[in-house]
Amino acid sequence: MKKIHVGTGKPYDIIIERGIIKNAADYIRPLTKAVRAVIVSDSNVAPIYADTVKKSLQDSGFETSVFVFDAGEQSKRISTIEKMYTHFYEHNITRTDIAVALGGGVTGDMTGFAAASYLRGIDFVQIPTSLLSQVDSSVGGKTGVDLPAGKNLVGAFHQPVTVLIDPDTLDTLPEKFRTDGMGEVVKYGCIRSLPLFEKLENENAWDIIDDIIYECVSIKRDVVERDERDTGERAILNFGHTFGHAIEKLGNYTEMTHGCAVAAGAAMLTGITEEKGLTEAGTAERLKNVLKKYGLPIAVDYSLSEIISATRGDKKSSGKGISFIFLKKIGECYINKIATEDIRAFFGVN
Ligand SMILES: NC(=O)c1ccc[n+]([C@@H]2O[C@H](COP(=O)([O-])OP(=O)(O)OC[C@H]3O[C@@H](n4cnc5c(N)ncnc54)[C@H](O)[C@@H]3O)[C@@H](O)[C@H]2O)c1
Ligand SMILES: [Zn+2]
Repeated sequence: MKKIHVGTGKPYDIIIERGIIKNAADYIRPLTKAVRAVIVSDSNVAPIYADTVKKSLQDSGFETSVFVFDAGEQSKRISTIEKMYTHFYEHNITRTDIAVALGGGVTGDMTGFAAASYLRGIDFVQIPTSLLSQVDSSVGGKTGVDLPAGKNLVGAFHQPVTVLIDPDTLDTLPEKFRTDGMGEVVKYGCIRSLPLFEKLENENAWDIIDDIIYECVSIKRDVVERDERDTGERAILNFGHTFGHAIEKLGNYTEMTHGCAVAAGAAMLTGITEEKGLTEAGTAERLKNVLKKYGLPIAVDYSLSEIISATRGDKKSSGKGISFIFLKKIGECYINKIATEDIRAFFGVN
């Protein structure tokens, strides 16, 4: 068992342990006076894992119910949240009861948002089951939904009372999403940890995935503790994301998954910053080799000009520019804000 303490305004622990979903309630019961626990899950994850979590909660005395929504990003919208609120109401969820997010990032983001807002806020637990949610979205308290106008445009900061990570759940995660999550894993090595990056180079990450999850979560914890509300340093988690989001948008969010788009974005950006002498020579090559090793893309069919155009309206833009994250070298990054009018010239496109 590995424990990571997160010292945010409302502190909590993240537990990483194989098989933990079978005794999830052992960790949840001491943290709450709840009578009822509502499990929220999607149509892929619920049939595999909801009964296990439900049994554990019932055995320790919780009255439980399960709310299931159709799996996929297209469900991450206000209308699903409304159905969730209705379920909470019909199952008598009160201020002191608890919601349990069981699934990937879509489940975690939505359950967290419903928990942040239902009755002006109830407690919730994260049980992330995809690699992306285990290393990234379940930690840090960002919750929310998409709007037709763009992803994650509505949300709230709401920290969970605990995060229970069971690496065994990754056994049933489809290959496409295993690869996708690895995009974020590589990101952590790039921005903060040469040793992690070297592990990804020299070993098969899947053989040591518990370790890898622990290292990624530790990095995210450190960053989130210093910048809980995302007003500064937390931006470094966005390495590869400005181009990545643009690539996702160009493919109407269906052609490429998030982690793959981020991987391609990171490789392209680092190629450019290295050419400009802003990144240590050889970094882009090393990054591309690791991405290829884990089945991630290093380029896309869109031109740089198209990608730059699609960065307009990026949520990470503020004032009159966009904050890009550049690598100094593997394991070290910095924030570089480029004024809107200078972006095309910086990247050498018209
Ligand atoms: N809150 C944050 O800080 C943050 C950070 C990064 C990403 N996100 C959000 O996370 C979401 C992406 O997360 P995701 O990739 O986990 O998406 P997801 O929740 O849709 O899960 C991906 C797919 O895997 C399936 N799945 C998940 N776990 C499984 C398992 N153990 N076995 C079988 N199938 C399983 C799901 O049903 C789904 O089809 C996006 O909406 C993104 O905006 C949030
Ligand atoms: Zn991401």
